[in-house]
Amino acid sequence: MSGPKWLNDAVFYEIYPQSFQDTNGDGIGDFEGIIERLDYIKNLGCNALWINPCYDSPFKDAGYDVRDYKSVAPRYGTNEDLYRLFDEAHRRSMHVFLDLVPGHTSEEHAWFRESGRAGHNEYSGRYIWSDLWIAGMQGHPYIAGECERNGTYMLNFFKCQPALNYGFGTVTAPWQDGLDDPEPHRTREAMKDVMRFWLSHGCDGFRVDMADSLVKDDDDSKSGTAEVWRDLRRVIDEEYPEAALVSEWSNPKQAVLGAHFNMDFYLDHPGKAYNTLVRDNETEGPDRSFFRKDAGGDIERFLPQFLSDYEAVKGHGYIAFITCNHDTPRMSRTLTERERKLAYAFLFTLPGVPFLYYGDEIGIPYFEDLPTKEGGYTRTGTRTPMQWNHGRNLGFSTADAAKLYLPVDPSEDAATVEDAEADPDSLYHTVQDILQLRHAQDDLKADGEFAVVYAKKESCPFLYRRGSLLLGVNPSGSAVTVPWEELSQVPDQLAGHKSAEPLFCIGGGGAAAEGITLEAQSFMIVR
Ligand code: GLC
Ligand code: CA
Repeated sequence: MSGPKWLNDAVFYEIYPQSFQDTNGDGIGDFEGIIERLDYIKNLGCNALWINPCYDSPFKDAGYDVRDYKSVAPRYGTNEDLYRLFDEAHRRSMHVFLDLVPGHTSEEHAWFRESGRAGHNEYSGRYIWSDLWIAGMQGHPYIAGECERNGTYMLNFFKCQPALNYGFGTVTAPWQDGLDDPEPHRTREAMKDVMRFWLSHGCDGFRVDMADSLVKDDDDSKSGTAEVWRDLRRVIDEEYPEAALVSEWSNPKQAVLGAHFNMDFYLDHPGKAYNTLVRDNETEGPDRSFFRKDAGGDIERFLPQFLSDYEAVKGHGYIAFITCNHDTPRMSRTLTERERKLAYAFLFTLPGVPFLYYGDEIGIPYFEDLPTKEGGYTRTGTRTPMQWNHGRNLGFSTADAAKLYLPVDPSEDAATVEDAEADPDSLYHTVQDILQLRHAQDDLKADGEFAVVYAKKESCPFLYRRGSLLLGVNPSGSAVTVPWEELSQVPDQLAGHKSAEPLFCIGGGGAAAEGITLEAQSFMIVR
């Protein structure tokens, strides 16, 4: 099972809706704004969207605290506007994912309010409650003293986000349910109902928030949570087979093989190989990210984990690579524009499904010192408005600056789409060119074969093969030539000719009699 065919050629664009495009002058992005920008996104080379939670919410965690799963927040428009967005996307052969938040709701959700009442009712078992107002929850975060019910309730993230009840992997207290008890099954049915609701209105699938968090005290391989997902996704397999799911799990073996997600994100979680590429937070001391020119490039910090995950999930699902997301500092914080060009070219030519975070294509900065907004804290600096042009508020909104969801980049030379489109050397054009090539070459799509051709510890370049294409990246500051004898898995047609013009190139390089040459800070694709 690897999901619907369209995933093979999918490139996602993540939209934080508050910050994308405001069309009614209230300072907050809206559905109409996304609709107006669909052509821009398609023209960039992205043919699918992931929209962060846009449901009714008190916004204490930017909408990840859902108050009503089936109604959108009025600040973005109406449900009908969102259905129209689905239609407009489909007319352009684009797909739209919403964000499904199955692990918790807002404390203001009607289910939770009912659940906190003293008397037993339909929702008493929807969340995880202990049986005494002063009881702890065995190491899990919990709240006491908020409701009339004689118990404490478990949290899944912030204080405002009580955990829904999917049961415990190992039951050790009378107030805990097992996976197969009736209440956890009712929670599953309630979440299936939410999935059906949006899928029936034209949504094409979901990015699933904290997908690994459902079953508490699960075993190390998360087999309980996986079992819940195999059940939840029956809605898709049986009723909406063209839909798909991507998990926030960051463990593709568990998420794809165990839980049957179609895709799992590679995220900047501790211990993850992805970090060593672009945001090295793995070790104390200097940032040794592979894509930093001066970092002494070591692809071997990335490859073992990646190859192991890739080989394991191949044929079953995909690794989803991100340029960034709404929780992560933008790469522009630590990588130069040239370094990012190379990093994007690499991420967009790996097997699997890439996700581009809005604004990364023009190099929106990460704003270090922004005061927290809607529970963003240090994530707030990654959530500022899209920068379209040099008009009022950089084209994001006609509102007074003080009314904007977050301030726009105040610098005189703020990056904008308008400037990026006009400059043939811009990051924007690199993204567009590489994505265009990806759509044109089957070898570069999600299913295209991948193999390592040349990789050495603490040295550049890194060469890899996608089907019949040879790709090379050299983030270092010096030119390098790798002799033919040192390469493995050279595509046949190259091995024969030993010379070829690049199909795509950043910097310079090529294949000649003496070997494959990559200039300083370069990337190339040859056939
Ligand atoms: C995920 C979301 C994050 C949110 C959290 C709680 O990590 O990406 O933004 O705060 O879950 O829902
Ligand atoms: Ca608006």
